[in-house]
Amino acid sequence: MEVIIVETPLDGAKEAFDIFTRVKEQDGKVYGLATGSTPIELYKLLVASELDFSDCVSVNLDEYVGLAGDDEHSYRYFMNEQLFHAKPFKESFVPDGLAPEDTEIARYEQVLADNPIDLQLLGLGSNAHIGFNEPGTDFSERTHKVHLTESTINANKRFFANEEDVPRYAYSMGPASIMDAKEVVLMAFGEGKAQAVKDMIEGEVTPEVPASILQNHEHVTIIIDQAAAQLL
Ligand code: GLP
Repeated sequence: MEVIIVETPLDGAKEAFDIFTRVKEQDGKVYGLATGSTPIELYKLLVASELDFSDCVSVNLDEYVGLAGDDEHSYRYFMNEQLFHAKPFKESFVPDGLAPEDTEIARYEQVLADNPIDLQLLGLGSNAHIGFNEPGTDFSERTHKVHLTESTINANKRFFANEEDVPRYAYSMGPASIMDAKEVVLMAFGEGKAQAVKDMIEGEVTPEVPASILQNHEHVTIIIDQAAAQLL
C-alpha cells in the first residue's frame, strides 16, 4: 500500500486526479467509480479537465435497493449529476435498485466479467466499509444484496429528509469483485475516518474491517488528509 498524506481534501483530489490521468494515458478503459461526499472534488477536477472518457466504461460500486435511477437519492442520479452529464463515458453501469435480486446480481457480475476494472476508486465508511460491504462481509463475496448497518444508515441520513427514508438494503460489488481491479485508489478525509484508516492500514486483515483486505492487493494508493491520518 502506498499512503499519501495531504494537507487538504482538495490536495487529495488532485493526487487522485493524477492517478486517473496516468491510467488514462496508459490506455485504461474501465473505471470503477464511487459515490459519497469524498469523491466530489475529484469529479469536479475530471469535469474541468481535458480527459476524454467517451471510449471508456465506468462501473459503479453500489446502489440503494428500491430507488429508481431518477430518484435524487439514488447513486445513479448522483453520478449523472456529478460526472456523467458533463463527462460522458461510452457506457456507465450502476446497479439497478429496482431490479430483482437474483437477476440484478447475475447481470452485474456479467458486467464486471465483460469489463475488467483498470482503476477502482473507493471511499471509506467510518466503520471501514468499502462499497457497501459492511463489517463481517465474507472476503469471497462478489456482487450481493447488503443489509445496511445502523451506523451506515446514520451516516447517510444527512442526505435524506427523514431517517426512515434511508433505504435499508443496497446492491454492492463485494470484496472479491473489488480486489479484481488492476489498481485501486482510496480516499478518506476528516477525523471521523481516522480509526477506520488506522484499522485498514495497520490492523489485522479481517472481514470485521472490510477495507483491510486492500493490504492484500498489489497496487493500492491510499490518499488521506492529516485529520484522517492522526491515529497512524
Ligand atoms: C457510502 C458509500 C461508500 C462511501 C461511504 C463514505 O456508504 N456506499 O461507497 O465510501 O458512503 O461516504 P462519504 O464519502 O460521504 O464519507
